[in-house]
Amino acid sequence: MSASNEDEDSKYNVVKEGKANILQPKSVFYNPVQEFNRDLTVSVISNFAKLYLEEKKENTKKGKKWNKASTEEKSASSNGKEQNNDVEKAQEMECDVVKEAGKKCGSGISILEGLAASGLRSIRFGLEIPGVKRIVTNDFDKTAVEIIQKNIERNKLDHLVTSSLGDASMVMYMSKGTDNAFDVIDLDPYGGAAQFLDAAVQSVNEGGLLCVTCTDMALLCGNTPESCRARYGTMTYRSAYCKEMALRILLQCLESTANRYSRYIVPMISISADFYIRVFVRVFSGAAKVKLSSLKLANVYHCSGCGAFTLQKLARKIPTRGENFKMAAAHGPPVMDKCEHCQHKHYVVGPIWADKLHDVDFVKKVISYVQEKKADFQTHKRIIGMLSLVSEELPDCPMYYVIDDICQQVHVNSFNQEIFMSALLNAGFEVSMSHAEQNSIKTNASNRDIWDIVRSWEKSHPVTQKRRVPGSITDTILSKEPTLKVSFDLHPEAKQESKKRGLSRYPQNPEKYWGPKPRAKKSDVDSVESMVDKRIKLQGKRKKNQE
Ligand SMILES: C[S@@+](CC[C@H](N)C(=O)[O-])C[C@H]1O[C@@H](n2cnc3c(N)ncnc32)[C@H](O)[C@@H]1O
Repeated sequence: MSASNEDEDSKYNVVKEGKANILQPKSVFYNPVQEFNRDLTVSVISNFAKLYLEEKKENTKKGKKWNKASTEEKSASSNGKEQNNDVEKAQEMECDVVKEAGKKCGSGISILEGLAASGLRSIRFGLEIPGVKRIVTNDFDKTAVEIIQKNIERNKLDHLVTSSLGDASMVMYMSKGTDNAFDVIDLDPYGGAAQFLDAAVQSVNEGGLLCVTCTDMALLCGNTPESCRARYGTMTYRSAYCKEMALRILLQCLESTANRYSRYIVPMISISADFYIRVFVRVFSGAAKVKLSSLKLANVYHCSGCGAFTLQKLARKIPTRGENFKMAAAHGPPVMDKCEHCQHKHYVVGPIWADKLHDVDFVKKVISYVQEKKADFQTHKRIIGMLSLVSEELPDCPMYYVIDDICQQVHVNSFNQEIFMSALLNAGFEVSMSHAEQNSIKTNASNRDIWDIVRSWEKSHPVTQKRRVPGSITDTILSKEPTLKVSFDLHPEAKQESKKRGLSRYPQNPEKYWGPKPRAKKSDVDSVESMVDKRIKLQGKRKKNQE
């Protein structure tokens, strides 16, 4: 190490993560527990780069227009010369693809990290993702950008990574439609990402990838429904399935924003982890596909008593001639005036994204990639566990039930997940868990079937009489006889593959004092104690004072 490097090391903290070794002053944001988020992103973008470059090569060979934002894919003209040029270009591209991380790949992908803090994520992209042409690492904080530049030099990435000082939205808008537009845009803000989505969906290249984090979970999960509507355009409500609701709110916001520019999203992976959500979506152009978006969005009728939920798509298809159809507003509501199970009123929330959350083939590729490169990812066990759960999720059953929550509604002792799943499987329904919540059930069974299973269980595990107050939710639901024939015999498929393989599925909090970190402040200089130091110092103070 050179003398000047040693000097820098003594001035700042040094953080090592993945292949990166960076300087990290306290006045610039850093959260070590987000290593999972960064590991996952590195593995997702690595796989995306492979897929994208193959598609690009194929499309260039076929002479399709590619890459400019806001242009629909068009077949190139039949002009023979142009076609020859395209084939040559494709051949050039093939030679040019240096698939080695850390090396510049002339026709590789371009990445923007819009909100980069110390640039740790970008440095990792530069050192760990193969097939990259350029990375722009942006922040609007001057101190952060100075550190980003130092970290680029420290990691010898000047040929691949450039620091940038500016507002993330402006950097995206300025790149739109130019040769400098990005194939991948990573947005990892404080709180919610809503304010950056307009620029992101417009500026990302055709078929490009947006990687978006939101940590404003209280708002997305229904603490302040009106603020959620103002920020994301969706009314929400606090429910047992709120973590998936949060994902579906963000996806609907991305889709609706993209639709304004004749673009639409295709979710590749959407996860809820710890205190945040993270989605990876591709963005394409096409007016015809945009018209179908109303079929991918829905409102939710959520019972204010027993929590039963019913989705209603925004539109319906009306067949015309042959395969053709036209769209019309949906008929509704899909529920009675009062909940048929407990007689309470419904909340109407939405709209939310009601289509697939993940591309399972892509998810499986990421799992294999991480399995092969375990040594490169400190959090590989968690990535493999979570993505395995994701790949097992029923793709067409939005939301989930939480067994403890259902049982609590009617004061029945909670029961084992495999027994609950067996009852559903024995009755012929499909079932899976959700990666978002332990003890969760995704199923194509109806609310009535779920309550019938609880009613049948209650017969052998009766609720005390004093709980059965006439007119209460408990009494109204349990007074009805089940119509579904229920068997609680263990079903061979009730234990999921990820469980049989002993994967790390719902890990405990990764460390003490774990959680989102507040904004970095200029006053957070290294000599001043940090939030964590303060938390440690103040812990148990009230108790000590009382003593
Ligand atoms: C949560 S931190 C980013 C953490 C980083 N991505 C990582 O993985 O460690 C958010 C950063 O966004 C920056 N920021 C906030 N609003 C911005 C904006 N409008 N444009 C550019 N940077 C912004 C802040 O200065 C801060 O450094």
